[in-house]
Amino acid sequence: MVEFTLPAHSKIKPGRQVTAARDAKRKKVFKIYRWDPDSGDNPRLDAFEVDLDAFGPMVLDALIHIKNDIDSTLTFRRSCREGICGSCAMNIDGLNTLACTKPIDEVEGDVKVYPLPHMDVVKDLVPDLTLIIAQLASIKPWLQTQSPAPDRERLQSPEDRAKLDGLYECILCFCCSTSCPSYWWNPERYLGPAILLQAQRWLADSRDEMTGERLDDLEDTFRLYRCHQIMNCTRTCPKSLNPAKAIVDIKKQIVARRG
Ligand code: SF4
Ligand code: SF4
Ligand code: FES
Repeated sequence: MVEFTLPAHSKIKPGRQVTAARDAKRKKVFKIYRWDPDSGDNPRLDAFEVDLDAFGPMVLDALIHIKNDIDSTLTFRRSCREGICGSCAMNIDGLNTLACTKPIDEVEGDVKVYPLPHMDVVKDLVPDLTLIIAQLASIKPWLQTQSPAPDRERLQSPEDRAKLDGLYECILCFCCSTSCPSYWWNPERYLGPAILLQAQRWLADSRDEMTGERLDDLEDTFRLYRCHQIMNCTRTCPKSLNPAKAIVDIKKQIVARRG
């Protein structure tokens, strides 16, 4: 039987153990992935026991508490703290989600927090988004037109505007792409569900005039057709969007234009 072993430097070692004050009434342990590229050390899992009465109800509240009051070197992204900016995406209790909208009391036992999976890590809970942002830029996520600009804005009927529902709400958190096995195996060549949902957002926009070029660009064995409808993306989306359906809709448009 084939045996797989991790390279020695990537094994996660036990890290710090911090205990809450003895008089804390509601204790909970957060086990957090830590990695500092400047240290030369292996990644480690720090365990912070905290008092849930000391901060708010979401996992992000706990991370901010730990950073402010226990370990200022803990590194993570966050901005809006209300599920809009997408920057606090991470793997919590085995699921990719937003730390700011994930209630702590939904997690039984210790809360395990890791960076989004299968991405390079910049530090601790911060994934390197360089590649996926370049992939986003490659699909030209903006309105493209060829006709002369009208005197006023380009109008859209309510019916056409409704076609963007389920697409425009994407906050580019990348929970979906980083839960997609096809993206794990081919991140350089497959665009993945987040980027393809964005592509469909512009294909579905009645004001956009580059549909043919956009489909030409997507019609590729790897860029589009690595999706095998495993559906992890749709299951994990914290905004309840359906990237798998967006991918099917793109494929249907490619079939339809062949006539
Ligand atoms: S449905 Fe497609 S994009 Fe979504 S997880 Fe599965 S393979 Fe990936
Ligand atoms: S489709 Fe959902 S999971 Fe994927 S990037 Fe957009 S909001 Fe995040
Ligand atoms: S902090 Fe903005 S989505 Fe969580």
